[in-house]
Amino acid sequence: MIILLVGTGAREHALARALCADPAVSQLHAAPGNPGIGTLSTVDGTPVVLHGVDALDPVAVAALAAAVKADLVVVGPEAPLVAGVADAVRGVGIPVFGPSGRAAMLEGSKAFAKEVMLAADVPTAEPRVCRTSSDLEDALDAFGAPHVVKDDGLAAGKGVVVTDDRAAALAHGEAILDAGGVVVVEDFLDGPEVSLFCLCDGETVVPLQPAQDFKRAYDGDAGPNTGGMGAYSPLPWAPADLVDEVVRTVAQPTVDEMARRGTPFVGVLYCGLALTSKGVRVVEFNARFGDPETQVVLARLATPLAGVLLAAAEGRLGDLTPLEWRNDAAVTVVVAAHGYPAEPRKGDSITGIDAAESVDTVHVLHAGTSLDHRGTLLSNGGRVLSVTARGATLAEARERAYAGVDRIVLEGSHHRRDIAAAAAEDAR
Ligand code: GLY
Repeated sequence: MIILLVGTGAREHALARALCADPAVSQLHAAPGNPGIGTLSTVDGTPVVLHGVDALDPVAVAALAAAVKADLVVVGPEAPLVAGVADAVRGVGIPVFGPSGRAAMLEGSKAFAKEVMLAADVPTAEPRVCRTSSDLEDALDAFGAPHVVKDDGLAAGKGVVVTDDRAAALAHGEAILDAGGVVVVEDFLDGPEVSLFCLCDGETVVPLQPAQDFKRAYDGDAGPNTGGMGAYSPLPWAPADLVDEVVRTVAQPTVDEMARRGTPFVGVLYCGLALTSKGVRVVEFNARFGDPETQVVLARLATPLAGVLLAAAEGRLGDLTPLEWRNDAAVTVVVAAHGYPAEPRKGDSITGIDAAESVDTVHVLHAGTSLDHRGTLLSNGGRVLSVTARGATLAEARERAYAGVDRIVLEGSHHRRDIAAAAAEDAR
């Protein structure tokens, strides 16, 4: 099978790694990929090919898919999906794992997602859509603190502020309105958060294993929100029936509602959930795999990935045999650039990846990296690397992941030291 993977982050590196490990994959192409993806090869030794194609250009991606004779296109990030990359690829007759631009609006507009949830009777926080400052002020006062203020549209992980500080909540909302956007203010959901990725073929839902992400920048959930500073799976503390409940009350009703509207959802429905005192509630939907949760979920998936994604793309998930999982644990820790998330510094040299990967089970996934003209690896984004490890237990996976992190040299970088710490302790 020839696959074209669209995207450039650590999530795509994790996807590429899993696809390359699948003996059914004869060639993997990436548009544009990253230096880490560029080091991979398929099981029979064929190197991955990186293509300097703009992932946000639907026509260019579809032309590349046709040129490389792709049997399947896998779209990683949300922006190409919302831009219509999956539609363009389907338009040239190639199966694609990723929703149409209209279906991706489940992530592209928080207000649209809420409207679908309401129609499908999916439990979520009550929203207020604000188009003016006075709407915003009224909504902040109606819900009270903690304030949850979201950019309606895509904001590359910077759209959500959760704060007790009304002035900060107002300032975030005003900035979105000033930029011509729409704000969604929500009721705060208490309780631990869980990410559950559901593979969808427009009709059938196949859940993966749940993971937990750490969104705040610093230890103890302090500091600003980020795209995610680390993740782990499984969740030993989660109720045994959590996945079944989420499929029954959240994912399947949403997929059914999207099909009823004539915009079937094909790809990953990322259910961001809070396990509140009143039950499971949806915090947000995303229309793609989460980052960094994908790094730990795919590290534990034993079933070869390519056939599963192709089955989703071709509407055959109902025929799939049950997924198989490694009976172990995985932890990933994000190494972030100096200044992340406010003003990440670029251009610092990165060393120590080989040393990190000499630790048992550790693999280092590239996110914001680039190579200079001499082939030196440099930081090129906020989240630079995702250091991932497996272990028999969460404690062992965490120990190995941090042993890897400690061998990475990136001046001014920072990372959290408490990823999976509480869960590993509880599971002892
Ligand atoms: N880890 C959060 C996200 O992928 O949106």
